[in-house]
Amino acid sequence: METDSKKLIGDQKQKGTVTSDRKLAHLQICLENDVQAKTITTGLEDITLVHCATTDLNFDEIDLSVEIFGKKLDLPFIISGMTGGHAFAHKLNHFLSKAVNDTKIGMGVGSQRAALEDIKVRESFDIVRKNAPNSLIIGNIGAGQIAQGLTSLEFQELVDMIKADAIAIHFNPLQEVIQPEGDIDLKRLHENAHSLIKEFQVPVIAKEVGSGFSLKDIKNIEKMGFKAIDIQGVGGTSWAGVESIRTLSLKHKKTGDIFWDWGLPTTLSTILAVNNFNGSVIGSGGVRTGLDIAKLISLGANAAGMAIPFLFSVQKHSTTEVIERIQEIEYQLRLACFLTGSENISELKRAPIIIEGRTAELMRIYGIDPSNYLHRKK
Ligand SMILES: Cc1cc2nc3c(=O)[nH]c(=O)nc-3n(C[C@H](O)[C@H](O)[C@H](O)COP(=O)(O)O)c2cc1C
Repeated sequence: METDSKKLIGDQKQKGTVTSDRKLAHLQICLENDVQAKTITTGLEDITLVHCATTDLNFDEIDLSVEIFGKKLDLPFIISGMTGGHAFAHKLNHFLSKAVNDTKIGMGVGSQRAALEDIKVRESFDIVRKNAPNSLIIGNIGAGQIAQGLTSLEFQELVDMIKADAIAIHFNPLQEVIQPEGDIDLKRLHENAHSLIKEFQVPVIAKEVGSGFSLKDIKNIEKMGFKAIDIQGVGGTSWAGVESIRTLSLKHKKTGDIFWDWGLPTTLSTILAVNNFNGSVIGSGGVRTGLDIAKLISLGANAAGMAIPFLFSVQKHSTTEVIERIQEIEYQLRLACFLTGSENISELKRAPIIIEGRTAELMRIYGIDPSNYLHRKK
């Protein structure tokens, strides 16, 4: 693993800003360590799509396309925001965006904060729009920057930089606290987010980074005026984990370890959002296969997102590797549609599913009857 990460990142002699150096360290940690959830899962294993042996579809004619944020995607899939802001991020975004353009899926960029601080790293973001002129591209900035008073002008710069079709504000309070230099004064967050969102036409997405959103969050998100939620629940990459590996402070390290699996599982959080939020929902956090995507769609998500697997697939420095991974995902999603007799994504949304285990228990606590998902009409 170490050799591969060296190959990808190379020897970075040039120092960047504090932000861009931190982004580099994050990448290196993700490539060299197991940073996945330890004791908790996404809950996707509790979902079973009911098999339909008498399917009468043509496998190749199943329509996986969707429309989201004004863009048509060939499949309901978005590579979640990861990179930008350092010289090597340019390479990464180059390979990812070329694959996104070829396969007609969507892609988020990593936090654009570094590009506001240092104009030199802007091209690591620009490259994405250059390579994928018509694709769904999503901008990214932290809730911390919003709380600190990011101006409308700066927000507009983020949109313009990549001609963003939508922009995600990432909520990561856990990560910020485990990061000794993190932004932990979020007092003005709701007020500032509300006034910024009001001013802009571009859809703004509330995105977590691996702890998901609760019912209270969903209400707050609606009040602030967000048009979409990108769940990023527990069960995949742990950012308390990444920061606990990165920090030298024993207090932060120990605490990061204790809170490694904190948050709401992806499946439960997606169900809560679909049932209580009036906007688009992207199911994400620990999504690893086309079958996982099918399950999230069947729960009502408009699309699904995946981050860390794509960091590994660009390691070989090739777009081919990324395209192959996307094609594999597409094949699995298509098979899930075929085997549930779903001719398109709208039909998959109404396919009967069985929900068991911890997810079913949690749903009952929230007053949602899991059996409703089995007896729905096509
Ligand atoms: C190397 C790396 C860098 C990331 N950087 C960002 C970021 O800048 N902004 C953001 O919103 N999320 C960022 N994320 C979080 C992902 O978008 C995603 O929410 C999280 O990793 C959970 O998804 P996964 O389990 O599929 O990895 C990053 C993830 C990785 C692996």
